[in-house]
Amino acid sequence: AMTTKGNYRHFMLKEIHEQPVVVAQTLQSYLRPVEAKVALPQMDFDLSAVERVVIVACGTASYVGMIGKYWIESLARLPVEVDVASEFRYREPVLDGKLLGVVVSQSGETADTLAALQHMQAAGVMTAGIVNVPTSSMARTVDLLLPTHAGPEIGVASTKAFTCQLAVMAALAVNLARAKGRLDGDAERELVAHLTEVPAYMNTALAAEAAIEAVAHHVSQARDVLYLGRGPEYPMALEGALKLKEISYIHAEGYASGEMKHGPIALIDDSVPLIVLAPSGPLFDKTVSNMQEARARGARVILISDAAGIAEAGEGTVATIEMPSVHPLIAPLVYAVPIQLLAYHVAVLKGTDVDQPRNLAKSVTVE
Ligand code: G6P
Repeated sequence: AMTTKGNYRHFMLKEIHEQPVVVAQTLQSYLRPVEAKVALPQMDFDLSAVERVVIVACGTASYVGMIGKYWIESLARLPVEVDVASEFRYREPVLDGKLLGVVVSQSGETADTLAALQHMQAAGVMTAGIVNVPTSSMARTVDLLLPTHAGPEIGVASTKAFTCQLAVMAALAVNLARAKGRLDGDAERELVAHLTEVPAYMNTALAAEAAIEAVAHHVSQARDVLYLGRGPEYPMALEGALKLKEISYIHAEGYASGEMKHGPIALIDDSVPLIVLAPSGPLFDKTVSNMQEARARGARVILISDAAGIAEAGEGTVATIEMPSVHPLIAPLVYAVPIQLLAYHVAVLKGTDVDQPRNLAKSVTVE
C-alpha cells in the first residue's frame, strides 16, 4: 500500500502521532499479558549462557543501544558495551567469551552497522538484530531477528522506529534478566504492566503538543541549545539534540547533567535554551541541582518533567512541559514524544524541509 501523509502536514508529524499505535503493535508481539511474561521469538541459543552484550548501531539507533545498556545492566546484571558502528570494527574490539552481539537499525541496510554485524559473526559471536525492515540485509543476516513493527518510516529523522526499537530493547532486557535468574515472576509481572501502559502514556504526552508548540518559539531564535539528562535520560538528551540539529539546523548538544560543569557551562548565557529531561525518580534531585547551576548563570530553562517534578523545580524556568508520571523503565519511551515534537515545531517555525533535511539520507549505504 502507498504511504501517504493523510491529514498531516509532514510525514514526520504523522509518524510522531502514530507512535502509540505502532509501539502497541510492537509490544504486542513480545508481551504475553495472560502469563505476565515478555517473550522473544524462538531461538536456537541459550540466553542464560550470555555473559556480556555488545550493542552496535548508528545515529538515533545508537541511542537505543545506550539506553539498552542502562536497562540490561540494571535488570540482568550483565556488562554491556555500546559503540557506533563506524568506530566498532576499527578499534579491534575484544569479542571473546559468551557474547551476544546486538545491532539496531530501522532500515537494516546502514553500511557501517551491516559491516559490524558481519564482523561479529566472523568472530563467532551470536547476533540479534532489532530491525524494522524484515526483508533487509541485516534482518536476513542476524541469528535472531527481533522485529520492530513501526511500518514504513518516511521522514528522514527517525521517530516511530526509535520508540519501537526501545520497546524491543526493553523486551530483550527483561528476557536476559529472567535468563540470568535476576527476575522473579512478580517482578516480571510488574514490568509487563508498565510496558503495557506505554501507548496510553504516549497519548498523554502527545496531548502536550500545544504547549510544546508554544515552547518552540523560545528555541527557534537560538543559535545553540543544550539538552541535559541523567541515566537513561542522558541518551534521550543526545537524541533531543540530534533531532533538533537534523531538522532545524540549530546547533544543539546533549550532555549528561553532571558533566555540564566540565565544559558546556561555559557556553551558557541568557541566549541559550537549556532543555532538561527530568522525570521524578532517584536521579531527579541531582539533575535539578545541575539545572539550578545553569539557571544561576542565566540559562533559559525548559523543564520536561511530571506534575510532581514541575511542582518541585518548575519555579524560575521559562517554560515547563508536563509529562505523565511513569516508571523509570518506560520514561525514555514517553519523553521521546516531547523532544520529537519540539524539534518538529522549531523546524516548522524555521521553514526547513522537515521530511527531507539537507545533506541527510534516510538510509546510509556507504561507509
Ligand atoms: C541515517 C538517518 C538516521 C538514522 C541512521 C541509522 O543517518 O538519517 O535517522 O538514525 O541513519 O539508520 P538505521 O536505518 O540503521 O536505523
